[in-house]
Amino acid sequence: MSEPRTPVFAANWKMCHGPAETAAFLARFKQRHAPRDDATVVVFPPAISLPAFAAASAERPDIRFGVQDVHTDIEGAHTGAISAAMVPATGATWGLAGHSERRREFGDTDPMVAKKLQRLLDAGLRPVLCVGETLEEREAGRLSAVLETQVKACLEALDAEGRRRLVYAYEPVWAIGTGRTASPMDAAEAHALVREQLTGFEGCTPGRAVILYGGSVKPANIEQLLIAPGVDGVLVGGASLDPDSWAAICAAGA
Ligand code: 13P
Repeated sequence: MSEPRTPVFAANWKMCHGPAETAAFLARFKQRHAPRDDATVVVFPPAISLPAFAAASAERPDIRFGVQDVHTDIEGAHTGAISAAMVPATGATWGLAGHSERRREFGDTDPMVAKKLQRLLDAGLRPVLCVGETLEEREAGRLSAVLETQVKACLEALDAEGRRRLVYAYEPVWAIGTGRTASPMDAAEAHALVREQLTGFEGCTPGRAVILYGGSVKPANIEQLLIAPGVDGVLVGGASLDPDSWAAICAAGA
């Protein structure tokens, strides 16, 4: 079982909100969301909007932000890519790796995801490992096997200190952007499976690991998801793009 802890509200903006929209979003969100010390709020804007995010949130250090993806290398001839080492100068303190859209559209494999987590850790960023099964895998009864492969590939590649800093996001691919949310019971079951994989790895404390749920989270279902056993927060796409909707989500569990 997991121990109770303060929730993490994470927003993944994907390829939405350039610098101007980022500034406008924050102008509104700051009015709608007062700092709360019983929750963590973190937004992952597109990399090009990180400086705008930093500028517009300067007086609100409670609104953390991070990078959606980094390259497996630190530097070199990789046109269009971003190095984890470049990220801290923007003020960002978190980073995602292994999102299903990266795996599907850009061919990110488990070994690449493990490498990206290491780069995020080396840069002093807090890494979030995203895992989750497709509908096909779920229907074939492979949920547990898929989560095991995705989680273990990364844990085996990291050292104890790296594992200690890792945050997890369970995002069933069939629930992302589809309006189809995992039931709180589905989420609880999958989170328990992720937690099980941590057993036996030095640096991992299964009961204390932070595991977020992602997939069609909205103001209307956040409260229910947040009380599901083992759900320590959420990673939200579509419903995080509107500042009022995101503020409503970040008010949950208060
Ligand atoms: P939606 O909330 O739009 O389903 O996206 C979830 C997600 O992929 C967050 O990383």
